[in-house]
Amino acid sequence: MEIRALREGDDRSTFHSGDPDLDRFFLRFAGQNQFRHHVGVTYVAVEDDRILGFATVCPAHLEIDRLPARARRGLPRYPVPVLRLARLAVDRSAQRMGLGSQLLRFVLQLAARLTRDYGCGGVVVDSKPPAVAFYARYGFVTVEALEGQSEARPQPTPMFLSMRAILSASGGHGG
Ligand SMILES: CC(C)(COP(=O)(O)OP(=O)(O)OC[C@H]1O[C@@H](n2cnc3c(N)ncnc32)[C@H](O)[C@@H]1OP(=O)(O)O)[C@@H](O)C(=O)NCCC(=O)NCCS
Repeated sequence: MEIRALREGDDRSTFHSGDPDLDRFFLRFAGQNQFRHHVGVTYVAVEDDRILGFATVCPAHLEIDRLPARARRGLPRYPVPVLRLARLAVDRSAQRMGLGSQLLRFVLQLAARLTRDYGCGGVVVDSKPPAVAFYARYGFVTVEALEGQSEARPQPTPMFLSMRAILSASGGHGG
């Protein structure tokens, strides 16, 4: 199993996570966002030429007032640069086999690399309600939602994992 950036020739049509929004995003928008608009990069987990999972990321910033007090401590008052995990999904056939965790760890390593090269205060994710417990297992905390932030229904739960936590979990070297 290999995790690598999406390629234009990849066959995305066989991927089904069970979540129609995520599947539609992957089929219709992941490619154009990456190759035409340059507003995000999708990484895919591939085995025998078949895509079994994907994670889409883009740079973002987080208003510090949205963080819980403990996470806010010591941070500057201006918006914090972060990496947004915009989408994460695993094909039904491969769910609950550790692939989602592997993709998430890969994204945390990307964020650590960003920290070294440009600065990055952590990772944010707009979690779908059924996945909140999944992210909480890795230390993500809920952050305050911004009014009118998302048109998705049901409303996602914004969550944050600080770079301090990411680096201390990886022994301080960022993977
Ligand atoms: C949520 C999702 C990405 C998790 O990926 P996965 O490969 O199935 O999860 P993993 O096998 O890596 O699970 C790691 C651990 O989290 C647990 N877990 C997985 N999904 C969970 C969930 N929805 N809630 C709580 N815990 C969950 C697993 O039981 C596992 O625990 P264990 O190590 O004690 O066995 C995947 O199931 C998925 O794509 N679901 C549908 C789409 C979705 O909801 N995406 C999230 C959008 S924000």
